Amino acid sequence: MIDTGSLGLTEAQLADAVGAAARAPSLHNTQPWLFRPTPDGIELHADRDRQLPVADPSGRELRIACGAALLNLRLALVGHGVRPLVTLLPDPARPDLVAVVRRGGSRPPTPEQRRLLEAVPRRRTNRRPFTDALVPTPARHALRRAALDEGAWLDLVTDPVQRVELGAMARRAHERQMADPEFVAELERWTGHGEERPDGVPAAAGGPLPRPNATWVLRDYSGGTARAADDVEAEPLIAVLSVHADGPREEVRAGQAMQRVLLTATTHGLAVSFLSQLVECPDVRESMRRLISGTRPPQVVLRIGQGWPVPGTPRRPLGDLLLPPPDGPTDTGLPGSAPLHVEDGPDPGSTNHHT
Ligand SMILES: Cc1cc2nc3c(=O)[nH]c(=O)nc-3n(C[C@H](O)[C@H](O)[C@H](O)COP(=O)(O)O)c2cc1C
Repeated sequence: MIDTGSLGLTEAQLADAVGAAARAPSLHNTQPWLFRPTPDGIELHADRDRQLPVADPSGRELRIACGAALLNLRLALVGHGVRPLVTLLPDPARPDLVAVVRRGGSRPPTPEQRRLLEAVPRRRTNRRPFTDALVPTPARHALRRAALDEGAWLDLVTDPVQRVELGAMARRAHERQMADPEFVAELERWTGHGEERPDGVPAAAGGPLPRPNATWVLRDYSGGTARAADDVEAEPLIAVLSVHADGPREEVRAGQAMQRVLLTATTHGLAVSFLSQLVECPDVRESMRRLISGTRPPQVVLRIGQGWPVPGTPRRPLGDLLLPPPDGPTDTGLPGSAPLHVEDGPDPGSTNHHT
């Protein structure tokens, strides 16, 4: 049985909330998160065993994924009438304890929170070609507002000169990554397989690849089976999400903002994929920072447009995502294998965030 503690949820509600959190996107679908229900609430931990050492040596993208899971968790709790109180990175001695979420009273969801929550299971990364239809202005405003609501910025790259430069930077970064045998080996370990795994990106979720002379490169998730596409959209909306600074707290903030942007895109019927080459190569990322925001470090680059439906990606069973409560192993009551490991530590500190 899960101890639902002071969150005041039924076991089914808690399972639903963790399930919503686990629907978040993550680099190569590593799903690098663990959850621990405690008498006080629920802890979200980064799962270091699922960090990608070549693509993400600092764990920046791992913390962005955890931030995305945190936003989903907050929305799911609001959906169950719980006002979440979130403390980010409460214990310097335990840097993988990303957040603690406690009950901050009761509150029904707003219509917007309800819309975002309903988008959680519908959101997908869409690597297929988009149509040439432009993203309408109201949707552009909504995407920027979504980032601002979470303390981040979303720069829409519309200047033609900047777009040409950014496209060239993405190509440079992409070619460098694909010439690195370790990067390619890591990509192959996590992508392009069949449907049998509960993690990674199956080949079915990959798209056709743009022709070599196309403006925007896309990473191959098909395991080498992708056809070259002639129907890739000419002018996708390119959006760069940035936050005040680098560092773990800002990266978790960026992850929450990214997820709010992605869910908002879903509510507007938009398709989104990523151009992470631009933020994974440090020198390219620095050039992009100077090109786009001037000061704020870019965290996520998105390709946004109008697309067709794509299949979803798998998720690990909930039972594999739960750490036992602080006082020792327990039956989680959820399907999946045994909890992964136990950690001890003092109760985390004060509140710093409301949904
Ligand atoms: C920080 C981050 C970086 C990502 N970078 C890329 C990328 O460069 N290219 C891409 O196609 N997908 C990228 N993804 C998307 C993941 O592959 C995707 O979220 C995962 O496979 C799960 O699929 P879903 O988003 O459809 O649920 C990224 C996701 C995150 C969170």
